[in-house]
Amino acid sequence: MDGLSRRVRSVFKDREKLFPTHIPDILPHRERQIHMLEDLFEDFLLKPGKTYQRIVQIQGPIGSGKTCTAYRFGLRYQKLCLERGVNLRYVHINCKLEAKSRFVLYQTILEKAAPEIATRGHSPEEMLRLLVSFLRNTDRYLLLSLDDIDYLIRRLKGEEREGGIIYDLTRLNEIYLGEYQNIVGVLFIARDPSYKDLLDPSERSTLGNIVINLPRYDADQLRDILSQRVEEAFKPGAVDDEIINYIADLAARKRQEPGDCRFALDILLAAGLNADSDWSDHVTLEHVRRALSETFWGLSTDDLMTLSNQDIAVLKGVIYALQAENTPYVSMKTAYDYYKVVCEEQEIQPMSYTSLKEIVRDLSYRGIVDYVEERGIGIAGASLEDLSIFLRSLERGRRLAL
Ligand SMILES: Nc1ncnc2c1ncn2[C@@H]1O[C@H](COP(=O)(O)OP(=O)(O)O)[C@@H](O)[C@H]1O
Ligand SMILES: [Mg+2]
Repeated sequence: MDGLSRRVRSVFKDREKLFPTHIPDILPHRERQIHMLEDLFEDFLLKPGKTYQRIVQIQGPIGSGKTCTAYRFGLRYQKLCLERGVNLRYVHINCKLEAKSRFVLYQTILEKAAPEIATRGHSPEEMLRLLVSFLRNTDRYLLLSLDDIDYLIRRLKGEEREGGIIYDLTRLNEIYLGEYQNIVGVLFIARDPSYKDLLDPSERSTLGNIVINLPRYDADQLRDILSQRVEEAFKPGAVDDEIINYIADLAARKRQEPGDCRFALDILLAAGLNADSDWSDHVTLEHVRRALSETFWGLSTDDLMTLSNQDIAVLKGVIYALQAENTPYVSMKTAYDYYKVVCEEQEIQPMSYTSLKEIVRDLSYRGIVDYVEERGIGIAGASLEDLSIFLRSLERGRRLAL
């Protein structure tokens, strides 16, 4: 904490209510989808232990509320189960943060769902078998979400590593042939359904046909969401309706990823921080405009929070290189030279060239940079001006992550 929210004069009551980690109790315009999920899992509540595993896909563009909808449903469902004496746990895995390989994914699932037995030294298959038999023996149940599964599948395919994750997790019942399942369901959350083309047909078919699509938010919906957040995060009177309308409109109509709620909340947070640094007791349009000029559309706080210091140093290296060369793409070698400059600047130990290549590839699976072997590294549609905004966003993200 940098003390900003603790000082006497601040527009914020609780600025963490604007952070990606905060999931409001009520999600305006997503309650219908949450009810759909509740309906899908209702029969388990009626006859716990006597249902088969249910596979559900949740799809929608960036910032359409996939993560928060799954989370809010999962936590409500877990509560309902516990109230009925059914020991169900909801486990939400963020693949970008917690699962870079099949092995790490299963280890993370095991650690979260059954910490008692999460010892090291098992193969992926053994970990799944251990999990299923542990749940059975202790009469526990699990509802699992795999968030940003498209990132993980792309990454695994890109490295030509062993796949089969979807296959494994959709067919857990085969481990105990014909018996009911203690893994009540798996939610696969993805932004871009095209990752399914990377799967072979038999694996793809195990995903089934239950898909919940989250549409983009329009300006009116964003206004409702922002108003609720303003009430939670700001002091009364600090943010006028005029400001909320302006931000909702900007987010609904922006060129890239229109309707992105994350972007709207980022602008609101940054505008509030600007108001504080001006010692103002309310947020003005000028604070919003300045926030906008410091926010690069391709990079959200959410993304920033999952990046390591080395990731950020590599990104900076790429941006320095793009700025210096003033070309749409730079080579990996050039990026490496500039990366070393960044390391010197920040007094960190540079990694090997091979590690840098790995990070660049990972950043491209995350959709932050474009990397094509023959062309090099670029940032889609970014002008020189955009690149310096990108750098400023990186700095702001780092300050917030502290
Ligand atoms: N209906 C909603 N009500 C309140 N906040 C929302 C709503 N939809 C999205 N958000 C917020 O917007 C941000 C982006 O939503 P998120 O679920 O991360 O989107 P996605 O996973 O689709 O990219 C999060 O901070 C989330 O809490
Ligand atoms: Mg998400």
